[in-house]
Amino acid sequence: MTRQRLFLSLLLPAFALVATAFLVTGCQPSEKEGGYGESTSPEPATTVYVRKDINSYAPDSEFIKHLRTGVAAMQSRPVTDPTSWGYQANIHGVAAATGNNCQPNSSGQPLTSWATCQHGSWFFLAWHRMYLYYFERILRDASGDPDFALPFWDYENQAQWPLPVVFREPADASNPLYVAERNTTPGENMNAGDPLPGSDTSATLALSRIPFSTPTQSLASTTFGGWAVPAPIHFAGGYGQLERLPHNAIHNDVGGPDGWMSDPDCAARDAIFWLHHANIDRLWQVWLNQDAGRHNPTPPAEFLSQPFTFFDVGGSEVTLTGADILNTVTQLDYRYEGVPAEAPAAAAAAPAAGETPAGALTMLATGAEEGIELGSGRTDVSLAIKGEAKTTLTQSLAAEGAEQRPVILTLEGLTQLRRGVNYEVYVNLPAGTEPDPKGPHYAGTVAVFLHDPEHAIDYSLDIGATLRALAAEGESTDEIKVSFVPSGPRGAVAEKLGEAQPSLRFKRLKIEG
Ligand code: C2O
Repeated sequence: MTRQRLFLSLLLPAFALVATAFLVTGCQPSEKEGGYGESTSPEPATTVYVRKDINSYAPDSEFIKHLRTGVAAMQSRPVTDPTSWGYQANIHGVAAATGNNCQPNSSGQPLTSWATCQHGSWFFLAWHRMYLYYFERILRDASGDPDFALPFWDYENQAQWPLPVVFREPADASNPLYVAERNTTPGENMNAGDPLPGSDTSATLALSRIPFSTPTQSLASTTFGGWAVPAPIHFAGGYGQLERLPHNAIHNDVGGPDGWMSDPDCAARDAIFWLHHANIDRLWQVWLNQDAGRHNPTPPAEFLSQPFTFFDVGGSEVTLTGADILNTVTQLDYRYEGVPAEAPAAAAAAPAAGETPAGALTMLATGAEEGIELGSGRTDVSLAIKGEAKTTLTQSLAAEGAEQRPVILTLEGLTQLRRGVNYEVYVNLPAGTEPDPKGPHYAGTVAVFLHDPEHAIDYSLDIGATLRALAAEGESTDEIKVSFVPSGPRGAVAEKLGEAQPSLRFKRLKIEG
């Protein structure tokens, strides 16, 4: 992306709002309408495949046999074959020669579409839907089962916090779904059947978000789908709420500090990756079906027109745009069991409340100016809200309905020193109080998924709703104490990091509102 295009996009919010308002009251584009890039969108489906919960299949079922057959067949193909396991994984990310433990699959030049995964922007959902769609077609073909559809892993269901059993047993090379390179921390040992930390599995915050996207990176947590950027970005910090939680968090929990799933350059080599993403893709439709103003981006969004390239059965190159993949039944050929694929008719027409807060945010406070590292224990940072900032915050917290503005907490210049740890964020949590992600002080989770420990992002979260609820209970907001607490069993995190090994580092904390 050129600097100029990014700059332009930052100037566009007001224009985009006007354009959106016009379009939602005007005509809706027809689903197969052309003119969006040079896409080779698939023919309308004659068969609709049903993606089901992995737990609905017995370990010795025909389906699991076909799944294993297909994965093994793809794994046996050379990495230069676009329908091979290695090539498909490299479309997500290519392992560096050093720095991680999934070996590079080729010593040659990167091939077409390698390392093109989209993270930290609104392209995240669309790109991964396309990626899964062609992967599923290749896997179906390799499985020998003409009805094969990708299953999903529904980890929000507590019974499914452990990794699905067929992915860990048998724990040897006879099982193409098994990899040793997963989180082995005691208490979080994925291949031993330890559960995911419950707070990392929840999509509740994500599903509560109304806007799909925002042109302002620091407001991305207020959206479901993330930062509206004009062109592809391999890794950005504008994660929408679904991408943070549960998406990034589950990657970290399954991969841990040294496994594949927590490293984008290795993640798609682990077969569970594809079931994780089927679940994320399913949650996109679940979100849409809640209606109440939720809708996908509308023209002229680049989300709809940006083409991405993949490979189909037989290795032919194919291109899709966001506009080609919005309806999984009429435009693609699948749906999720238990989830209607047709969004409520009102969804696209309803105005999206709180799409963009009125006016720019003002700085309220900064803290941790010397920088801070998050390790195995709880870290508290206090920020005093003084003078004019106090008035601004008080007024903002007292506002009702559409007048409510976000209060944005930003971890500036955040880098990931060690993979595999997520931090729950609490606001004004009293000293002796057990952190409870279901309690009133919980404001969100810091969960990043980055491929390079040097890569710095700004990570922002909206703590407005939490502050507002605390203020309504009569708690003072003259000081905002932010607590970062690692998710998962305490002992496990300490064991994982060791005393001197922080996981995240950031340069400064700031609050705007
Ligand atoms: Cu592109 Cu879950 O990752």
